[in-house]
Amino acid sequence: MRIGILNSGGDCPGLNAVIHGAVGAAHTLGWEVVGFRDGFEGLLPPGDYMLLDPSRTVGITKLGGTILGTTNKGHFVAKVGEGNVSEVPKEIVEKAKTTLKHLEIGALIVVGGDGSLTTGLQLYNMGVPVIGVPKTIDNDIQATAMTFGFDSAVATVVDALDRLHTTAESHKRVIVLEVMGRHAGWIALYGGMAGGADVILLPEIPFNMQHVADSIRLRDARGMHSTLVVVAEGARMETGELLKKENVGGTGEDRLGGIGEHVAKKIETMTGKETRSCTLGHLQRGGAPTALDRILGVRFGAMAVNLIEQGKFGRMVSYQQYQVGDVSIEEAVNQLRVVQPNSEIVRAGRSIGICFGDAVSRA
Ligand code: F6P
Repeated sequence: MRIGILNSGGDCPGLNAVIHGAVGAAHTLGWEVVGFRDGFEGLLPPGDYMLLDPSRTVGITKLGGTILGTTNKGHFVAKVGEGNVSEVPKEIVEKAKTTLKHLEIGALIVVGGDGSLTTGLQLYNMGVPVIGVPKTIDNDIQATAMTFGFDSAVATVVDALDRLHTTAESHKRVIVLEVMGRHAGWIALYGGMAGGADVILLPEIPFNMQHVADSIRLRDARGMHSTLVVVAEGARMETGELLKKENVGGTGEDRLGGIGEHVAKKIETMTGKETRSCTLGHLQRGGAPTALDRILGVRFGAMAVNLIEQGKFGRMVSYQQYQVGDVSIEEAVNQLRVVQPNSEIVRAGRSIGICFGDAVSRA
């Protein structure tokens, strides 16, 4: 038996752990593994790939990025703009199938986020035996309680907030930190709460600048002269539009960004307090995965091979109730998992005085 593995979309700490897990589990069964380079692009004839055996994956679990390379552009993009699905051209799928046939690949593991899994589903529907593995730092796939990469991204946010805290405190300033997450506020919420943010603005809770400014003034009046604000890149005002950089990179989805700078300017004007903004950007995606992401990645990789062994194609590895299992890819795609505004974690945040920029948070 020979199987293929590829990762597609943005990179994510823990991808190499998945590769390590899949290669290890396949080797135990006596199978060969072919790793395709640069996402689905590696499937185009004559195929861009490397043979992966345990000697090639020694020590990679601790490495960020992916030894296979990845892309969120190219011939296989199946998501355009927000939630619009497009068909990967039939002749491109046929080319991929030719490569797989030529290499005698009996199953293909696709490690990707919503867009890449949508492509994986299309390949499956056209006869490729696909197993999906969810991947995103945003942690926004409904069918899995957690994705690897999220914990590492949160750790980076917390580290940044720890650093920003000392400088904000020294200068009695407000500092706004813009973080990733697209249309889900998980990174902002977990990072903000763990890092001691005073204001957290999420896509799921439209905010009003008046409430944000009021909470900063109240802190000042109570003798707390510095404030840390975490803004998710997809956060939006009660009345305002989402700040986008349009589809500048030619990728499948719009690039978000700019809300942190915007909020910082408003805070300075409205409160008169010196305010700075900082965008964490791709620091959240780079670097070594945390221990949690390593173990989750290894387990996901091993489970993908297990699903192939059982012939459960069209399924996606999923983490639920502390166990790794599987769901159908069809069920998993296009189902965003977002923060519920009245969930226990948000209520906990409110109860310790965090302002979420809405009327409930009014000082
Ligand atoms: O989906 C992961 C993510 O890091 C988002 O949080 C962010 O909006 C996007 O990817 C950035 O993508 P790119 O690397 O194409 O700029």
